[in-house]
Amino acid sequence: MGKALDGVKILDFTHVQSGPTCTQLLAWFGADVIKVEKAGEGDATRGQLRDIDGVDSLYFTMLNHNKRSITVNTKDPRGKEVLETLIRKCDVLVENFAPGALDRMGFTWERIQELNPRMIVASVKGFGPGPYEDCKVYENVAQCAGGSASTTGFDDGPPLVTGAQIGDSGTGVHLALGILAALYQRNTSGRGQKVLAAMQDAVLNLCRVKLRDQQRLDRRHVMEEYPQYPDREFGEAVPRAGNASGGGQPGWILKCKGWQTDPNAYIYFITQAPVWDKICQVIGEEHWITDPNYATPKARLPHLKSIFARIEEWTKTKTKFEAMDILNKYDIPCGPILSMKEIAEDQSLRATGTIVEVDHPTRGKHLSVGNPIKLSDSPTEVTRSPLLGEHTVEVLEQLGYSEAQIAELKQAKVI
Ligand SMILES: CC(C)(COP(=O)(O)OP(=O)(O)OC[C@H]1O[C@@H](n2cnc3c(N)ncnc32)[C@H](O)[C@@H]1OP(=O)(O)O)[C@@H](O)C(=O)NCCC(=O)NCCS
Repeated sequence: MGKALDGVKILDFTHVQSGPTCTQLLAWFGADVIKVEKAGEGDATRGQLRDIDGVDSLYFTMLNHNKRSITVNTKDPRGKEVLETLIRKCDVLVENFAPGALDRMGFTWERIQELNPRMIVASVKGFGPGPYEDCKVYENVAQCAGGSASTTGFDDGPPLVTGAQIGDSGTGVHLALGILAALYQRNTSGRGQKVLAAMQDAVLNLCRVKLRDQQRLDRRHVMEEYPQYPDREFGEAVPRAGNASGGGQPGWILKCKGWQTDPNAYIYFITQAPVWDKICQVIGEEHWITDPNYATPKARLPHLKSIFARIEEWTKTKTKFEAMDILNKYDIPCGPILSMKEIAEDQSLRATGTIVEVDHPTRGKHLSVGNPIKLSDSPTEVTRSPLLGEHTVEVLEQLGYSEAQIAELKQAKVI
């Protein structure tokens, strides 16, 4: 079966996490992704957080599936020529270097346009144009600058970053969408264009509901579904809401059987209005169905803490999976707090290819997250990440370099 992006060539000039997330998705959809790495060094993540000496780290192997790797010193004039040839032949250049790095290398937007007017140049940067545009940025900086940290955690504690890599991987996903839109527009315009996904912007996009709440707070000075209500004053900015749901249906994380020893014996419980009667029946508080203090969502808002405390008395008598089974019978929305160990062992995630086992020549078998986006006519086969420079000769030959030319570049350490 063919792939959605068959025939699309990506010059992958990305490193670390944000850019590689984007190009990995494009590779999974069938694009030919040629990763250009520094000769002799490669993507810094190959050597970061290593669990096996001398072997590409999981950080690298899990972000660079289905790609080819070539090593080129793009600061050497002969290396620049290789890159120019690649620019002429490829559809998209993706990069996430520090601001200005590509220009300093001599590959300005104007120069790239001269070489290939159809080329799409897609970049991740920490910030868009403005006071911070020249700053280097990593994941947690973006989480902080994009509004996530100030709205995550409990209000008696400091701002918190989240384990989900919304700054890096989140921005990579945004960039991939921008690239696909630009490829689509090129069908009619015939021209390439610049695509920019700034990490601050991507995080803010994912924190959209908190900017919603800022405006609600400005207008009404109170938000009844927040845990601060009704006991505490609201300040001027959206406060941290602990485990409150962020939507119109109140929710909280509740202890389950075994919580004293298992840090993940918890369940997320949503008191969705349409199933309130069933919730009351399950926990044995049938009188709440008609009690005016509990009967409507509005009446319940001032009592959410005591309601969840009562539900927790019930969840503490069940394991999170027993609670799931019971609650799902009544269509009560809930979710177990799954540990990474439980996820790694989850057979249904393996069956769908969301968790995959991949073999690697120096590392051996390891787990990875496969393509979370499933296309019925473009199934994903996850293949291992390339070794450093594994495809340098193959790609240069395809670009028209002779054996002698390749040997010369190798001798001069340009590749
Ligand atoms: C992530 C980041 C902070 C890392 O910074 P860094 O390790 O100092 O790396 P830089 O991006 O500055 O690039 C390093 C240099 O390598 C050079 N380089 C990259 N590939 C090369 C190659 N194949 N051959 C020769 N030189 C190369 C670059 O030109 C740059 O040189 P310069 O500083 O002289 O211009 C930075 O790249 C950044 O802010 N990127 C944008 C935001 C982003 O994506 N952040 C999230 C990362 S997950």
